[in-house]
Amino acid sequence: MRIAMIGTGYVGLVTGTCFAETGNDVICVDCDAEKIRLLQAGGCPIYEPGLEELLQRNIAAGRLRFTTDLPSAVRWAKLIFIAVGTPSRDDGSVDLSALWAVVEEMAPHLAEDAIVVIKSTAPVGTNAAVTARLRELTGRSVDVATNPEFLKEGAAVEDFMKPDRVVVGARREEVLEILWDLYQPYLRTDKPLLFMSPESAEMTKYAANAMLATKISFINEIAAICERTGADINDVRRGIGHDSRIGFAFLFPGVGYGGSCFPKDVRALAAVARAHDVTPRILEATHQVNEHQKGILLRKIREHFGGALSDKTIAIWGLSFKPGTDDIREAPSLVLIDGLLQHGAALRVYDPEAMDNVRKRYGNRLTYCQHRDEALDDADALVIVTEWKQFVHPDFDEMKRRLKRPVIFDGRNIYNPHRMKDLGFTYYSIGRPPVRP
Ligand code: UDX
Repeated sequence: MRIAMIGTGYVGLVTGTCFAETGNDVICVDCDAEKIRLLQAGGCPIYEPGLEELLQRNIAAGRLRFTTDLPSAVRWAKLIFIAVGTPSRDDGSVDLSALWAVVEEMAPHLAEDAIVVIKSTAPVGTNAAVTARLRELTGRSVDVATNPEFLKEGAAVEDFMKPDRVVVGARREEVLEILWDLYQPYLRTDKPLLFMSPESAEMTKYAANAMLATKISFINEIAAICERTGADINDVRRGIGHDSRIGFAFLFPGVGYGGSCFPKDVRALAAVARAHDVTPRILEATHQVNEHQKGILLRKIREHFGGALSDKTIAIWGLSFKPGTDDIREAPSLVLIDGLLQHGAALRVYDPEAMDNVRKRYGNRLTYCQHRDEALDDADALVIVTEWKQFVHPDFDEMKRRLKRPVIFDGRNIYNPHRMKDLGFTYYSIGRPPVRP
C-alpha cells in the first residue's frame, strides 16, 4: 500500500514507521525542513522506546522516506493520513488551522481513488466538514475516513503493534475493507477492528481519553479525602481495584495528568458539549480536580517549611509528564517549578530524558544535574514528580548523606512509608499519612 503520512509529530512518525514495518511504502511529510533532514539521516526527533531502530531499519529497506514536498507525496499515495497537531485555544476549543491548511494544499493533487484518513484528534463533525470541503475543491466525492489513535507515549510502538482495538469511521464499506487489510497484521485474534460512522469514531477518541482522565481525577479526589481521614489510598486502590467491575488501570493517584492528550481533549470535549447546549459537569470537574492536583506538591512543601522558601534548595527528580518520554507538555513538574521559583527556592533538577526540553524553557534559572544523586547535594528536600524506574531503588544512605535534611515529597507513591520512617526520612506522599522518623 502506498501511504503518505502528513505530519511527523508523535503520532505521524510512529504510525508511518509502523506501517512501513509491515511492508507498506510510506512517505512522511512535514513542513519543518530541519526535522525532515534529521529523519532522512536516520535521526529520531523524539525519545520513544524502539522507534529509532525501527526507523533506521525501514529507511534502509527503502520502505520509509521523508519529504517536505506535500504535493508529490499526495499524488503518489493511495492512502493519505493527516496526523498534524490540533492544539487547544485559550477557551479550550480545538485549533484546526494546521489540518485545514493540509486539506487545502492536498486537494488539487489527490489521485482519483485516493482515500484521506484523519488521524489527528478533531471534534465531532470534522470528518463531515473535510468531506464537504474536498468535494468543493475537487468537484468530486473523496472518501474521508476517521481513524483515531490510542497510543501512549513511552509505549507508542508497542501500542501500535498490538492495539486493543482499531476504530475506523467511514461512510463506505470499500474504505473499511482497505483499512482492514492495512491493519490486519497488527490485530491479534481477540482484538477487533470496529467499524462505525465518522462521527462515532471522532467521539470515541474523546470519550476514551475523557474516561481515563476522569478515573485519574476521581482517584486523586479520593486520595485527598484519605489524607484528611487517616485512610491509605494504596489500600483503598487495591480494595476497589479487585472488584472486576472497577479494575486497576488508571487509578494511580499522583500529581495530576499531563501530556499532549488528556488536558487538551477533556477541555475540547467540554467545549463541544457547551457548543451543543450540554453542560459538561463531569468533564469540568475532571479538569478542575486536575488543575488543583498539579499544585499538591507545592502546597505540601510550603506547609512543611512554614511558607517561606527563599532560603531553601529543593531537588526535583522527574520532569517529563510521565516516565519513558522526554515530553514536558502540560507536565505537572512545570507547575511545581513555577511555584517554587515564585517563592524564591533554588532548584536542582534531574530527569533521564527531559533535561533539554526543560532547559529550553527555564534557561539558567535552574541547576541542571547530570546524575540523579547530584541533584540531592545540599538540598533541603527531594521532590519526586515522575516515577522513572531509576528512582525506585536509590541508595537511601547516600541520599541521606547528600541531602541537607532527610525530607522527601513523593508525588507518585513509589516508596513504602513504614520503610521510609525506619530509614529515618520525613516522607510525604499522596493520599497516605506523612511519616517522620
Ligand atoms: C494518553 C492515552 O493513554 C492514549 O490512549 C491517547 O492516545 C493519548 O493520551 P499519554 O498522554 O501518552 O496517552 O499518557 P498516559 O500513559 O495515558 O498518561 C497520561 C497522564 O496520566 C500522565 O501524566 C500520567 O502520569 C497520568 N496518570 C496515568 C496518572 O496520574 N495515574 C494513572 O493511573 C495513569
